[in-house]
Amino acid sequence: MSKKLENQVVWVSGGTSGIGAAICELFAREGAKIVLTGRNPERGGEVVETVRAAGGEAVFYDGCISREETVSESIALAEKHFGRLDIVINNAGMVQVKMLHDYTTEEWDFLMRVNVTSSFWSLKYAFPLLQKNQRSYIVLNGSISSFVGQAMTPAYTTSKGAMLQLCKSIALDYAAWGVRCNIVCPGITDTPMLREHIDKTPEPEETLRQRLRRVCLGVPLSPMDVAKSFLYFSCEDSVGITGTSLIVDAGYLAAAEWDTETFRKMAGV
Ligand SMILES: NC(=O)c1ccc[n+]([C@@H]2O[C@H](COP(=O)([O-])OP(=O)(O)OC[C@H]3O[C@@H](n4cnc5c(N)ncnc54)[C@H](O)[C@@H]3O)[C@@H](O)[C@H]2O)c1
Repeated sequence: MSKKLENQVVWVSGGTSGIGAAICELFAREGAKIVLTGRNPERGGEVVETVRAAGGEAVFYDGCISREETVSESIALAEKHFGRLDIVINNAGMVQVKMLHDYTTEEWDFLMRVNVTSSFWSLKYAFPLLQKNQRSYIVLNGSISSFVGQAMTPAYTTSKGAMLQLCKSIALDYAAWGVRCNIVCPGITDTPMLREHIDKTPEPEETLRQRLRRVCLGVPLSPMDVAKSFLYFSCEDSVGITGTSLIVDAGYLAAAEWDTETFRKMAGV
């Protein structure tokens, strides 16, 4: 069976963990060559090994994505090692749990650089390579917080709303060069980021159970569940689709009010 990403080169920010690591693994299985960024060289090495085991090739760039050089230099690696760049995946992100009045300006700015500005830089430095292709793909990582508020995460929610609008701007302005840009908006996904968030609560497993009551499928997504939607937007399976969002949330946003446990009792399941 032919692979979906044969001869394609992809840049993935935050490829060392969670959803980003699953994207690297899945894209490698589909034949892509990968440049991934992250801040943990050990994890970076492990992901490179996973990609190699899947028959692919990968290069890791160690650096903080809040620095413009991390983006420019890692994108340059795509040309250096693989001679081209076809797919840009802006996945890196962070969350900070605190009230808005408790943020320092530095904390607010840092989160915005990681979650939003890095995507601006990726387009800036990738475009000279993307414009050589007939078709290119940019996929952003949003969130259900691109659409609804979330308690005590004002900078994160603001950043994910911004990503939704950035997606539309890129789609419009770069369509003439054959670039399609879309955004995947995940719900509760079982990654280190989620664990870090819920581990700050007194009873983490109970916190997760309570949050999942809002999810009509009743379970967290796996990183690979979400990675599959990134693959969809990174190839011609999604031909004709640009500037749009795909909510992958196990039904979280389907209802204003929902309680899985009560519903199951009512339905006799
Ligand atoms: N886990 C969820 O429930 C969930 C839900 C919606 C959206 N998302 C989004 O998915 C994306 C990936 O998150 P995840 O859940 O896989 O978490 P994760 O913590 O497992 O991965 C985050 C990745 O971003 C990278 N990163 C974060 N800050 C960085 C920095 N300053 N410099 C360089 N790299 C940095 C990390 O190295 C890591 O590779 C994020 O954009 C997140 O907002 C996650």
